[in-house]
Amino acid sequence: MKLDKTTETMLIFLSVLAIIFTGYYVEVICSRNTLASEYSSYLSLTGSRLSDEVYATMDITEQTQTNSEVQTRYDFTIYNNTKGSLSNWIAFVEVEKGATILDSWNAGVSVVDNGSIMVVPEYYNLSFAQGENVTFGFVVSSGKNMYPNRILFKGYSSEVEGGTFFRKIIYVALGIWAVLFIGFLVSGFNQRNYKEKQKNDVRIILQSMNTFISFIDAKDPYTRGHSRRVAMYAAEIAKRMHLSEDEVQNIYYAGLLHDAGKISVPDAVLNKPGKLTDEERKQIQDHTVAGGKMLKQLSSLRGIRETALYHHERFDGTGYPEGLKGESIPLYARIVGVADSYDAMSSNRVYRRHLNKDEIIEEIQEGSGTQFDPSIVTYMVDMINDGYVNVVKMETAEHEEGAGDFHLTEDDIPGVYMGF
Ligand SMILES: [Fe+2]
Repeated sequence: MKLDKTTETMLIFLSVLAIIFTGYYVEVICSRNTLASEYSSYLSLTGSRLSDEVYATMDITEQTQTNSEVQTRYDFTIYNNTKGSLSNWIAFVEVEKGATILDSWNAGVSVVDNGSIMVVPEYYNLSFAQGENVTFGFVVSSGKNMYPNRILFKGYSSEVEGGTFFRKIIYVALGIWAVLFIGFLVSGFNQRNYKEKQKNDVRIILQSMNTFISFIDAKDPYTRGHSRRVAMYAAEIAKRMHLSEDEVQNIYYAGLLHDAGKISVPDAVLNKPGKLTDEERKQIQDHTVAGGKMLKQLSSLRGIRETALYHHERFDGTGYPEGLKGESIPLYARIVGVADSYDAMSSNRVYRRHLNKDEIIEEIQEGSGTQFDPSIVTYMVDMINDGYVNVVKMETAEHEEGAGDFHLTEDDIPGVYMGF
């Protein structure tokens, strides 16, 4: 499956979030309501040791007395000396029956069980760490002078000793997940490096080809940009024919090098302004065979040699150099043949302007089944109609100065459309 960079980054981000949240919730699930201990002791004004780990003090800070009742303010502090933090704690303070609560702070308090005041922490002191303390207090009214007897404190520890089986399983799974995830990242990185290397190889191939094409251009400046345009038209036809990415790439290379054999045609013939003699025409036509020979060494790029050799064959078998017919002409050569002819028709010549869009379409359709493979003509005509060809011309504009084709006379038409 091929992912674009944004999707890949998003997936990595989501995976990291999933790992973090799973870990967090396992921690929460495993820690919730794990009773650390219950501590209980009788209260004294000098402080009550509930256990070695939890200590409580109580102060009577204010007291008022009327004929019928006594109002007393009590302040409590609980000290945490356990190994971890205490959370979701709760305390019960035993008081006289009939006592009513008038006020409270730092905690929610209520009378329960006929004689106990239940203390539930406010959210801000729900949890307190080792070495810290919480304070709370209340004012109660009672019929006579009251003294709380006993305090019961229940602390729920957030620190789980050892670990549950479930917790261990989840952590092992998380570990495996993390290792796989890192493996996925590393392999993605390697793949990117490999792709980068592949891109670099393609760059080197293209640079070599462009260097070679510049030799051809130097020999015949009127064809400047021709090979690049043909390569782009041919690759687009291949794409629209749903050929594989590798095939499209190879057809592009084949288009770039289809006229490589021109390098062996003497300059005097290639640039001759007048009518060509039969011998000169033969010399130009021989660029196909020469190209085929030159590119024989390039066997690792499939179809390059055949395209140079056969791009002037005609579908009806009247082309050159071998007079191949129909589908016995290699597919790349048939595609490049159409692209080559389109470029020749749409380029200016020394002796005439380029043909207009309708003229070109007419000319190509006339050649369908005789000069060109009809199934390829359809794609070329579509590319002309939907404007793709103009995109190619714009993209290759810098190569187009002096664009034209061979210096042939009008007598050579329609051969000139073939670009020779
Ligand atoms: Fe050619």
